Amino acid sequence: MLELIKKAEKTHSLDKNEIVSILNDGSIDAELFAAADRVREKFVGNDVHLRGLIEFSNACARNCFYCGLRRDNKSIERYKLDTETIIKFAAAAAEMGYKTLVLQSGEIPSYTVDIMAAMISEIKKLGVTITLSIGEKSRDEYAAYRAAGADRYLLRIETTNRDLYEKLDPGMSFDNRLRCLKDLKSLGYELGTGSLVGLPGQSSADIASDILFFKEIDADMIGCGPFIPNPDTPLANERGGTFELAIKVIALVRLLLPDVNIPATTAMEALNPAGRLIALRSGANVVMPNVTDGEYKKKYILYPGKICLNESPGQCIGCITGKIQSIGRNISKDHGYRKKVK
Ligand code: 5AD
Ligand code: SF4
Ligand code: FES
Repeated sequence: MLELIKKAEKTHSLDKNEIVSILNDGSIDAELFAAADRVREKFVGNDVHLRGLIEFSNACARNCFYCGLRRDNKSIERYKLDTETIIKFAAAAAEMGYKTLVLQSGEIPSYTVDIMAAMISEIKKLGVTITLSIGEKSRDEYAAYRAAGADRYLLRIETTNRDLYEKLDPGMSFDNRLRCLKDLKSLGYELGTGSLVGLPGQSSADIASDILFFKEIDADMIGCGPFIPNPDTPLANERGGTFELAIKVIALVRLLLPDVNIPATTAMEALNPAGRLIALRSGANVVMPNVTDGEYKKKYILYPGKICLNESPGQCIGCITGKIQSIGRNISKDHGYRKKVK
């Protein structure tokens, strides 16, 4: 098994069976994490990129079984921020030093393409890189946002097990998800994708396929995190993914895709108070602090245990900066594009 880790560290290539055997072996975790940390340092250095997350609406027309924003969840109060408020949050975040802002919402058509495009152009004037995370859209819509100035797009594949995907995301088509990812890539977005770890019915082989898929689609950013059962969803009584497995996935992603950006996801910290730092020492190089001010983030609940609900954006950037520096890493001063090797 140690030979496999050495091979991955050297060649950045493993086959599906080899990935499965690492996922299933608990005795080599320390070596796996150390190897991923070395590859991280060699390829992307000691800088940690901060991306400020604006959760601009929790309304969603979809009904994903795992997610608290699903339309059938009547126990959350829905909000849709107007563009002035979103731009105000963006300006405050840029002022704090954020070089990338992520605009995220549920999947809703209620902001028209023109309104979204105008807002993107306005935020772009702040000199920031813009990432969108607003779900499945037509190619034309993606093209309009790209033309307006959006640089990156996050759309997790969630799971590459097609049957599981279509079972857990009722009414959604796996093929359309792939179409979206390919359109985004061909439109020149930096592409972010990722998966949930520990979904009910997901096998180690499925997770191995997810990791190989990230390589195949040539993703620039890969966000993976544990599935955390939400009491307001049909998966309330399911088992959830473990912290250990999610960290292993991050480490394997770093070994196999050495130059990509990998966030230490917030869901990691919901399971372990040192979760993001552990992830940063096991392959990750990005953190996405929340810059949505006020009460809104308490209503943007995908899973229970969300962190930072009572902290302001200013408190969060202070907190995370201190934590990152405490492990000998620096806050990046650049925009943090993927620097592709080869
Ligand atoms: N646990 C962890 N992550 C979740 N997401 C949605 N619901 C959950 C949950 N219960 C993730 C999905 C989505 C991202 C925005 O949040 O992967 O792509
Ligand atoms: Fe909506 Fe996204 Fe949640 Fe699915 S995962 S219910 S599309 S917010
Ligand atoms: Fe929000 Fe630490 S990052 S309080």
